[in-house]
Amino acid sequence: MSQPTIESVLQEKRLFYPPQTLAQKAQVKSMADYQALYDKATADPQAFWAELAEQELHWFKKWDQVLDWQPPFAKWFVGGKLNISYNCLDRHLTTWRRHKAALIWEGEPGDSRTLTYAQLHREVCQVANALKSLGIKKGDRVGLYMPMVPEAAIAMLACARIGAPHTVVFGGFSAEALKDRLNDAEAKLVITADGGFRKDKTIALKAAVDAALEDNGVPSVKNVLVVQRTKQDVSMEAGRDHWWHELQAEASADCPAEEMDAEDVLFILYTSGTTGKPKGVVHTIGGYNLYTHMTLKWAFDLKDTDIYWCTADVGWITGHSYIVYGPLSNGATSLMYEGVPRPSNPGCFWDMVEKYGVNIFYTAPTAIRTFLKMGDEIPKARDLSSLRLLGTVGEPINPEAWMWYHHVIGGGECPIVDTWWQTETGGFMITPLPGAIPTKPGSATKPFPGILADVVDIDGNPVGANEGGYLVIKHPWPGMMRTVYGDDDRFRRTYWEHIPPQNGQYVYFAGDGARKDEDGYFWVMGRVDDVISVSGHRLGTMEIESALVSHPAVAEAAVVGRKDEIKGEDVFAFVTLEDTHSPSDELKQALKQHVVAEIGAIARPGEIRFAEALPKTRSGKIIRRFLRNLASGEDLVGDASTMEDQSVLDKLREG
Ligand code: WT7
Repeated sequence: MSQPTIESVLQEKRLFYPPQTLAQKAQVKSMADYQALYDKATADPQAFWAELAEQELHWFKKWDQVLDWQPPFAKWFVGGKLNISYNCLDRHLTTWRRHKAALIWEGEPGDSRTLTYAQLHREVCQVANALKSLGIKKGDRVGLYMPMVPEAAIAMLACARIGAPHTVVFGGFSAEALKDRLNDAEAKLVITADGGFRKDKTIALKAAVDAALEDNGVPSVKNVLVVQRTKQDVSMEAGRDHWWHELQAEASADCPAEEMDAEDVLFILYTSGTTGKPKGVVHTIGGYNLYTHMTLKWAFDLKDTDIYWCTADVGWITGHSYIVYGPLSNGATSLMYEGVPRPSNPGCFWDMVEKYGVNIFYTAPTAIRTFLKMGDEIPKARDLSSLRLLGTVGEPINPEAWMWYHHVIGGGECPIVDTWWQTETGGFMITPLPGAIPTKPGSATKPFPGILADVVDIDGNPVGANEGGYLVIKHPWPGMMRTVYGDDDRFRRTYWEHIPPQNGQYVYFAGDGARKDEDGYFWVMGRVDDVISVSGHRLGTMEIESALVSHPAVAEAAVVGRKDEIKGEDVFAFVTLEDTHSPSDELKQALKQHVVAEIGAIARPGEIRFAEALPKTRSGKIIRRFLRNLASGEDLVGDASTMEDQSVLDKLREG
């Protein structure tokens, strides 16, 4: 089993039609319906989105202008006033949904909690008041570093309620990575927990926050709010650190939602790019609320009776858009699970499906490949008959894993919704609408209505059917990122100038290679930049190189992705050492540990190879293409004649 190659997917001709019973009840019922929606949206995108914004969301005040597009800066619903926490909570309270389960949570040790919309609203209001009591005001940034507990969602909604942008840092990132992000966002408060349960261990979240804040490491942070989860020993600094449950108990449950501007910042979420430090992707309230709401509603054909489960962590965009905001805005019941599959509990996901009667299940190819390897007996021993739809996200899914997911998990009856999107896009961009669009294993199928996607060459000219090129978006959409936090110029350069604007027409460059087949189906081939995806987690090779070079033994480092059966890609590092150090296994271990401390366990190199020198062009640029070939044990592709020193490659090959 391997990642899809051009050859394997070009041969992929299987087509799976939506089951009739599903299509009949679906919100978008046929290819003709989809095409009509798509054409309507393309003909007048502003009218299309405005109509949906009016129908689907609550506004305190309607907008004056649907779109203000000063390329590459977009403003949607200009002058409109709303609050996403109101749309996710308050508006459901006057309906029968008041006592519907909003969040069903299951903790790793097996504890569980259900919060109805009324209960969730109450807690969000209390915590919002607690935040105010700590001096948090509209516009102040709040950092979250949380395990997968309901308090993570409550904290996000509480921030949104008072207009304080949140920046969630995945709990698997190191103290060092947390510090960088909190500093970039100039967070005033950090919300964390004493610890979290992960696999069969606990993780020390509060200790990592302490380390990040040590020696005035983040001068902007004034207070820390701590959820009690594991009850492990933590130190609480008087005046700075506060227990969540104590402040919540004192706080009033009356906290009207602040009337926010549609273009006020909802959150900043950091993600890796080709160069430099992670970028703070900025999303604003109105467009993001509408976009996550609509994409979830149509792509997962959400019904009020559904139990919907997305297995992501709230630390990633998937958790933001499709565990918290999208489902709650729709009034759905969203399952939240702290556990992750592991050898000691390989069936835990299927136990959840059976226990809660999950109807819609959304996960990543790396998880599907892991399950496939563990064998069919494990899922077959559970009752998975409640499942209606299956989703996948994060990287291209290989047709073998797709077929397994379809047959063994979905019993051959559940459409697979392969959603292509990014932190930057806010929500799904290319995805089947499951009652309408027949699926092909390995293809994310067609763009969502209103998304003008295309595949072009480096000059921006569309390429022919089945020719590879760059995936671009040709018209702004409501869920798009607005800028890189504090760096408009980087936003422009990274996303809008890679493909040169033609006649003032800017196109959004996603960083992915793709092709479009003769039926107009998109096949995403993976990143074309120095971003790698390890178990669906996005990492910049430069970040890992910088981490390695910051170790005193390392002179130079080059990091590439190596194909991996389960993870998709694994981190492979080539390292040259300072004269004062010599290669050893101990040093390899120390360097791996160093990367974990600098970034987090997700970036730990699978392999480090010591080299005397790295392959470079005469102008001194590392030739990564060769390193990728070497890491994957392939023959070298391309011309080595531009190399400065030909013998370098032979030595590297010998390892
Ligand atoms: C990158 C974005 C969007 C949430 C998870 C990742 C890859 C994402 C797919 C898919 C092929 C995919 C792309 C993209 N990707 N979904 N269905 N098929 N590739 O978010 O960390 O911002 O990463 O993930 O390469 O650019 P992210």
